[in-house]
Amino acid sequence: MAVLVAVAAVPALLGHLALTRGRVSMLASVSPATRRRIFYSSLISDLTAVQETRLFGLGDFLKGRMPDEVAVMQDGERRIDRKEFRTHGLLALLSSAISGGGLVWAVAGAADGALSVSAVMAFVAAVAGAQGALIGLATGLASSYQSLLLFRYHHKVVATTDDFPAVTATATALAPLRKGIELRDVWFRYDDSHPWVLRGLDLTLPHGSSVALVGRNGAGKSTLIKLLCRFYGPTRGAVLWDGVDIRTLPPAELRRRMTVLFQDFMRYDLTAAENIGIGDLARLTDTTGITDAARMADIDTKIRELPNGYDTLLSRIFFDQDDEDDPHAGVVLSGGQWQRVALARTLLRGDSDLLVLDEPSAGLDAEAEHEIHRRLTGHRAGRTSLLVSHRLGAVRQADTIVVLDDGRIREQGTHEELMAAEGRYARLLALQARGYRSSDTSDGVRLAGEDRAPVMP
Ligand SMILES: Nc1ncnc2c1ncn2[C@@H]1O[C@H](COP(=O)(O)OP(=O)(O)OP(=O)(O)O)[C@@H](O)[C@H]1O
Ligand SMILES: [Mg+2]
Repeated sequence: MAVLVAVAAVPALLGHLALTRGRVSMLASVSPATRRRIFYSSLISDLTAVQETRLFGLGDFLKGRMPDEVAVMQDGERRIDRKEFRTHGLLALLSSAISGGGLVWAVAGAADGALSVSAVMAFVAAVAGAQGALIGLATGLASSYQSLLLFRYHHKVVATTDDFPAVTATATALAPLRKGIELRDVWFRYDDSHPWVLRGLDLTLPHGSSVALVGRNGAGKSTLIKLLCRFYGPTRGAVLWDGVDIRTLPPAELRRRMTVLFQDFMRYDLTAAENIGIGDLARLTDTTGITDAARMADIDTKIRELPNGYDTLLSRIFFDQDDEDDPHAGVVLSGGQWQRVALARTLLRGDSDLLVLDEPSAGLDAEAEHEIHRRLTGHRAGRTSLLVSHRLGAVRQADTIVVLDDGRIREQGTHEELMAAEGRYARLLALQARGYRSSDTSDGVRLAGEDRAPVMP
């Protein structure tokens, strides 16, 4: 009987393992639908999403799509549930047949007088216990097996090799920038199937000087910044830090040497002080440094006025019913105020060799933009900096202005040189200036077909 119970555990184990494989492959196959469902459900709790959902009346539209994703997931679940039901049913039948057969044999033995009643009872308890233990073992093994199979996906992600490995790995610390950063014949596309974003770019950011980058949407400005941070490597060509290919430098060391205000900066659900302090973790509790950076970004006064000053939480997502009306529990900042907080975070790294600002004033009012650019000009003086801006008035102070178009440099020079050249920069500036002077077309620089060009009032 013991052999029989043990042998019957083998198909039970195999059945559980097969079901586990089926469940894991089902989870993988419905994963895109699961991610889409997470996206739809996240819209319910997202403060920015709710504005558009209400204004554009998207509720029913989004609600209509979500069940499709849920249906895909439930189909997968149902398929595997049916298999489990059949397999478990067969396994239960097998173990019932064995224990039932054993019971008949034991009762027959008792009737013959070969077994006592207590022996039959001990036999029944032993068979049930052994079967339960073996089934528990099979279920436990199957559950570990499932974890291992799922872990394989995790491992696949974390074991992915660097797709732009260092040319020669050198772990040496990076010396402070002395000559400058050079992009030499840089070609870049995000993937072989994507179009080229940068096409043979040659650009130098000389040490101690400010370079401004302008160009239309999609010209490749933010992409160039990502290459400087080494989030991506050039498909061809190289980025050189004082003449050294940055692929040979430790990325963390390189990034420590620069500070960047990204166009799509983060809004952390943390306190105001933490939102700025994480720009330089070593200074997370450096109140003076944080307030100095906030002052430079012209947000210090606003933060001091908040219910808990710098300790105010810049979020209202963590509250429960008890403190939802408590203004001290957290605040919501405006778009421009967030931009200033992000700028302060960037400026906290005061000792960086390279300051990069990608559209630092996009959300600022005209007065604030002027004031912040005045402060930044002072801050950037003598530092290596790269400024991206669509507001050409903000870039005229730069030592070099570079006009990027379709991944290539179209023009390069000082504001005066580019104005004298009467090229793209001069035309764009004239167009922007006209926007501020209604019905004025006498800018000295005329745009081809400018009478037809739409101008924002
Ligand atoms: N992660 C990405 N994967 C694939 N393509 C991308 C990615 N990021 C940007 N692109 C593409 O690269 C091109 C350049 O984008 P980039 O963000 O560098 O433009 P930009 O000059 O900064 O524009 P903007 O003035 O609108 O900020 C665009 O065509 C964009 O679609
Ligand atoms: Mg950009």
